Amino acid sequence: MSRRVSLTQYLVEQQRAHGHIPAQLRLLLEVVARACKGIAISVNKGALGGVLGSAGSENVQGEVQKKLDIIANEVLIEANEWGGALAAMASEEMDSIYVVPNRYPQGEYLLLFDPLDGSSNIDVNVSIGTIFSVLKKPEGHAGVSVDDFLQPGSAQAAAGYCIYGPQTTLVLTVGDGVAMFTLDRETGSFVLTQDDVRIPEDTKEFAINMSNMRHWAPPVKRYIDECLAGSTGPRGKDFNMRWIASMVADVHRILCRGGVFMYPWDAREPNKPGKLRLMYEANPMGFIVEQAGGAATNGRERILDLKPKQLHERVSVILGSKNEVDRVTAYHAEQG
Ligand code: AHG
Ligand code: MN
Ligand code: MN
Repeated sequence: MSRRVSLTQYLVEQQRAHGHIPAQLRLLLEVVARACKGIAISVNKGALGGVLGSAGSENVQGEVQKKLDIIANEVLIEANEWGGALAAMASEEMDSIYVVPNRYPQGEYLLLFDPLDGSSNIDVNVSIGTIFSVLKKPEGHAGVSVDDFLQPGSAQAAAGYCIYGPQTTLVLTVGDGVAMFTLDRETGSFVLTQDDVRIPEDTKEFAINMSNMRHWAPPVKRYIDECLAGSTGPRGKDFNMRWIASMVADVHRILCRGGVFMYPWDAREPNKPGKLRLMYEANPMGFIVEQAGGAATNGRERILDLKPKQLHERVSVILGSKNEVDRVTAYHAEQG
């Protein structure tokens, strides 16, 4: 029988073999995984747990919050504030940063998260998830401020997501490839089920909200038009489309079998770079996708090179199979 490797074992072995997971980071990742297990339990209870529906409030970005957005945010804060690995946290659902209270030791790391991704799918029993990103607090000053968080995605020490679907799966990178862990509900532990995840470089599958087509910029429209033209068009092959409307689920499919995911800028709000959030969605997913051999850009620049100007910054996102992302990015460059 092949050896079952738990998340704990995987992290300890990574630390021993490669030395790139300091003890504080290992502890932090274990605690995030534990919090995700707690969120998975709430998600699974659904209507029986009274967790469905709207919370009747709005977040700082003007989006209506669901009960589970708030529950997941609280679970992550409560699980992570006392462990000693963190100085502060930032979340899509909080106006500003959450500094670890004085009664707990302050650690070296910063944790950012989208506590519940795919909120529109909560009430209809479709896959949703939690996305997280870990940064190191810059050295040289006491205390912690929003500025400490404004680091490019290339500075991430770790990133991951947990998808609450038919299975609960944790996907993680610490900068040495991507590993997937499936939650064994009987033992309560995450078990390594795929190591060294690789995204095929080519694909015949795209994910985009087609209802926005008339608002897209010409390079995006050109790419999708060519996909739709299929075997009789310039691409010479038929494409398939998928859109789950949970980034976490669309990206998970791409990690499993390739594809390209896009949430581009559109002309309705020209001053808004995109819908998705740079710090809580694009950076962690960009890091994971690159570590799996894929690519992630905003159409013109590599996502991980972008220098954030504000915590809740939004960005246009094109990610997945490398040759397709390169093609869409080249179409943007050709347009000038
Ligand atoms: P969130 O639930 O965290 O606000 O994120 C939802 C995002 C993302 O997960 C998904 O790809 C996209 O919004 C769906 O947007 P549409 O409803 O426009 O399809
Ligand atoms: Mn989200
Ligand atoms: Mn969310």
